Formats: sequence, C-alpha cells, structure tokens
Amino acid sequence: MKINLALVKGDGIGPEIVDSATRVLDKVATKYGHKITYTSVLAGGCAIDATGVPLPTDTVEKCLASDSVLLGAVGGPKWDTLPGNLRPEKALLGIRKAMGLYANIRPAKLYSALHDRCPLRAGDGFDLLIVRELTGGMYFGESGRRDGAGGVEAYDTECYSVMEIERIGRVGFESAMKRNKKLTSIDKANVLESSRLWRETMHKLAEEYKDVEYSDMLVDNAAMQLIKNPSQFDVIATSNMFGDILSDEASQLTGSIGLLPSASLGSGTRGMYEPIHGSAPDIAGRGIANPIATILSVAMMLRYSFSLANEADCIENAVETALNNGCFTGDIGGKLTSNEMTNKILELI
Ligand code: IPM
Ligand code: MG
Repeated sequence: MKINLALVKGDGIGPEIVDSATRVLDKVATKYGHKITYTSVLAGGCAIDATGVPLPTDTVEKCLASDSVLLGAVGGPKWDTLPGNLRPEKALLGIRKAMGLYANIRPAKLYSALHDRCPLRAGDGFDLLIVRELTGGMYFGESGRRDGAGGVEAYDTECYSVMEIERIGRVGFESAMKRNKKLTSIDKANVLESSRLWRETMHKLAEEYKDVEYSDMLVDNAAMQLIKNPSQFDVIATSNMFGDILSDEASQLTGSIGLLPSASLGSGTRGMYEPIHGSAPDIAGRGIANPIATILSVAMMLRYSFSLANEADCIENAVETALNNGCFTGDIGGKLTSNEMTNKILELI
C-alpha cells in the first residue's frame, strides 16, 4: 500500500515524538511492504513564527490532500499572550474543523506492567474508550466580549444540533458493538439545555442498538466514578469539552498522559492522529519525552484509516512487550530517553 502522510510536528516536544513515531512506522512499512511518503507542514507556534499565522492555508490544503495527518503537539509559553484567534491551539481546532473530523477516539487502558503506576488501589485494571465530539460545542460556539452591568464580560456558547449529536452518538454505539457492548453517555442534563437535547437524541439512538447496554451519567458524577471504579466503563460518548477534561483524567489512571493516543475521524477514511498530551515545553529539547502516545497513534492510523490491523497489532504488541520488559521513560518511573525507548520498540517489531 502507498500512503501519503502530512506531518504536523508542531511545537515543544512535538518534533521529537513525531520523529520517533515515523521511525516506527517506517520499520513496520518495510516489514509489511508498504511505502510511506511524508509532507511536513507548519501549524501552531512554529507557523506563527514563520508566517505570522497559526494555520497557514498551505497547511490545510496539504492536510486535505494527504491520506492522513500525524500531529505532534502545538503551543507553548512563548505564544500564550497572543489573542485567542492567533494562538497556536487555533491551528489544531482549525485542522480538525477543516477536515471534518468530528469524532475523537481516545482509548485508555491500564497495562499490566504499569499497575503500580496507577494512583488508585490496585484493582482489576480497566480498558475504556472515550468517544469525544470534536468539531462542535463550546469550542466552536459563539464567543466574545462585550460591555455588561459588571463591566466587560466574556462569553462562550455551547450549541449542539441533533445532526451533530446523532453522528457522534453512532460512533459511540458502533464502537460499543465492537467492544463489550456497553455505552455511557456523559452530559450535564440537569443544568444545560444542550445536554438535554444530547440525552434525548442518544435515547432515540439507543432504540436502534438494543444489544448495547446504554446509560446516562452526569459529568460531575462521571469524574468521580472514573476515580472510584474505572472498570465499570467500556465506551464513553461525550461532548467536546467534557471529553477533553475526562480524557486527561483517564490518562492519569493509566500512569501517564504520555501513553495515550488518539484518532480523529470524519465521514471518510482520512483521519488525524495525535497523542492526547500537549507540547510539554518544560521538557522540550531534552530528548526525554515518552514517545509511546504518538507511536500508538500511528497504530491507530494503520487500523482506522488504512484497515491494516496486523500492522497495528505489531506496533501495539511491541509497545506492550517493551513495557513488560521494564522499558520505561521518566514519566512512568524509568530512566530511558525517548530515543532509547523508541529503539526498544523498533527492536521488537
Ligand atoms: C486536546 C487538547 C486540545 C483540546 C487543545 C490543545 C486545544 O487539550 O487535544 O485534548 O482541548 O482539544
Ligand atoms: Mg486536552
């Protein structure tokens, strides 16, 4: 298979982890006879420095012309004081929107090698999947500042249409069908009107998926239940904002945010793949970042965009074996550099 990828290395540790992940991808491609070509494009802080804007048109065009996008991370303190629409994060939101990637898939599981890194009492472990809506809600609603009775006020709006809820809901139900047939929809329907429409729409969908054990959960309770008993969850479907927060929470239960990959998908096969973590400016350039989240994102890409399940398994097994062999970067209690960790995984492929 010939695959043309757009690479958005981004800022901070972004370039380091993307380099690790493409080395792994190249090795798998050689092993299975695929040909990968890369087109590097600028987005985020590095794009602001080079072109004055976080998301140059050329970047969007090249992402849309690619078979899929691999992204490292964007942002950093250098650009933190820029106005909202010129911040590096706008690039990420812009690519997601331009590519129509409304479904963000974030698996979180506890590897047996990392049981003692989980901050909870050792239990049976957990293996869950967060399906986060990615192109709607408060991230894309009307926002601004205006004069009010208390002086300047700022507002952000949460808006969801039935169409948007239905299509992400379907991804949730379909994912549950392929796993343990359990779906928890998370909302704040006791307060928010958008959540009430979310819940109604999910209930209608649930009628179509009788084999799935469906339940609703309020987001505050969900934040608590994740800590109390994460193994009760199989698939979680939720809004953009709640999914952002709950996926960071879930990552900590696995031992480190440096382990969690993600896939962002739309209606076609083209997707964007990225670790759920950020650009980690505090450790950028030191060669110590955990490359696993990005390496596992490449595995998700092979599986979801190119239906290459064996190749994806090969990467996932190599990562798991490396962890079982006690290969740990600093974030999970070890001493390996990013390069050493990547080399261990390469050896196992
Ligand atoms: C994520 C990140 C982004 C988000 C930021 C960097 C805009 O936190 O991918 O989870 O909130 O979606
Ligand atoms: Mg986040």
